Amino acid sequence: MKLSQRTIDRLIDEAYKASKRAYSSYSKYSVGAALLCSDGKIYTGCNIENSSYSMTCCAERVAFFKAISSYDVKPQFSAIAIVGLDENLKSDTYCMPCGACRQVMSEFCGEDFTVICIKNKEDYKLYKFSELLPEAFSAQSFI
Ligand code: THU
Repeated sequence: MKLSQRTIDRLIDEAYKASKRAYSSYSKYSVGAALLCSDGKIYTGCNIENSSYSMTCCAERVAFFKAISSYDVKPQFSAIAIVGLDENLKSDTYCMPCGACRQVMSEFCGEDFTVICIKNKEDYKLYKFSELLPEAFSAQSFI
């Protein structure tokens, strides 16, 4: 599905808003994600860190798990926007999803799912999911 500029701008705005809720006192890197379902609903997430570092959950997975746990029937997903800000609320790099989050996306998203990686409100990159995790491991490997 082709995303309109209005939708892209809305997702970017929501990702920035979500980053303000990050619980990121260890890394001081606040990530926000805004996930668009095909019915138009947007679910947001922020990173939630833990003193036992490995318990940290990324913003993208928080958004996916919020969305999936809100529907009786598995939703379809269209796009996600991701932003990461340092402690001065600045960002010099595009916020790319980590490998674990890409694997979670591969469980729930099609190849056309769009990933919007934000550097700032005027500078962001759009990827098709298939570009970010080619040859993904899936249930087809063992079922
Ligand atoms: N983080 C995310 O929220 N999403 C990603 O895709 C990459 C990393 C978070 C995890 C941790 O709280 C902080 O960024 C630094 O790694």
